Amino acid sequence: MRAIRWGILGVGVISDDFVAGLKLAPGTELMACWSRSPERAAAFAERHRAVSCSSLDALLASQVDVIYVATPPGQHKEHALACLNAGKAVLLEKPFACSAAEAREIAAAARKANRFCMEAMWMRFVPAFRELVTSVRQGRHGAVQSLEASLGFAQARARDGALLDLGVYPLTFAHALLGAPKTVKAIGGHEEVSAVLDYGTAQASIRCSSRAQLRNDAVVWAERARLHLEAPLYRPESYATMTVSAPVAELTPARGGLRAVTQRPELRRWVQRAKALAEPRVTLPAIGNGYAHEAIEVNDCLRSGALESAVLPLEESIAVMDTVDAVRRALQ
Ligand SMILES: NC(=O)c1ccc[n+]([C@@H]2O[C@H](COP(=O)([O-])OP(=O)(O)OC[C@H]3O[C@@H](n4cnc5c(N)ncnc54)[C@H](OP(=O)(O)O)[C@@H]3O)[C@@H](O)[C@H]2O)c1
Repeated sequence: MRAIRWGILGVGVISDDFVAGLKLAPGTELMACWSRSPERAAAFAERHRAVSCSSLDALLASQVDVIYVATPPGQHKEHALACLNAGKAVLLEKPFACSAAEAREIAAAARKANRFCMEAMWMRFVPAFRELVTSVRQGRHGAVQSLEASLGFAQARARDGALLDLGVYPLTFAHALLGAPKTVKAIGGHEEVSAVLDYGTAQASIRCSSRAQLRNDAVVWAERARLHLEAPLYRPESYATMTVSAPVAELTPARGGLRAVTQRPELRRWVQRAKALAEPRVTLPAIGNGYAHEAIEVNDCLRSGALESAVLPLEESIAVMDTVDAVRRALQ
């Protein structure tokens, strides 16, 4: 197996977590890193046994195949373009850009340079998430009628606003299942946003917050099943499926008996718990801290010569940014 040589641009909080995952991706060689602070870069290089480059140009001139860009969103376009124009493949942290226009410029630069580029939306590559998306997209549960997804933490470090830092996760979930919405309505501001995406035949209700601990899970209502993707949304490891195929008339006698039980508060709790336990659950643990999966995808694409990921193509990252822009317009 050909080793894929990685470089790291930006050595902040997430780069340490990503590299911990990267080390679990087979056939990976972590070669070099760069940060504006030589001390921080040297400490990062020492922690991870890499070479600290003296300048961005030195990193771009190194032998790395791909560069993981983990600078703040305001720097994503500049850094992605610098890497692509230097002939390097790019794994670009989420949010892919600050706007759809920037996202399109990055995608155009990747195509012009004939180099691989992908958004580091790690949630998209975690096995439980992929399995749920595949089963819904294949129509196993019938058409999606509605979904809800949220991501929010009390006192979250969301310098670029809840929508860009956190909202892109539930928005990516909605896009993975339903694509681009027809219309968007939203309320909120810098710290919290609630949005409804309308698809005509379905609606997606999205919430994000940097001040409130939300449920951080997702629920999908399809024609024949309700699927519950269990928290945390960014790295789920299981989802439960409740079939809703039986006609109501067939359930009536049993329901009559159940109603007598559920009207007693002390028994209701146990009935709910038993029902939850009876729901078939798909459990697919993530490797390590979960970041290995996106790195494995990049390695596989580079080895096969693919210029985009089939799981998360550039058009999907652009479409999510189009919806981010639409939410912003709706907030004005
Ligand atoms: N996937 C995830 O789970 C996840 C989680 C958190 C964040 N993120 C994303 O990852 C990115 C980084 O977040 P973070 O939390 O790691 O931020 P951070 O801790 O502030 O690190 C940002 C890094 O970028 C460098 N940097 C900042 N401004 C720069 C500039 N103008 N030019 C060059 N380098 C610059 C900083 O390094 P120096 O000052 O040393 O140069 C620092 O190394 C963001 O896009 C964020 O949305 C992803």
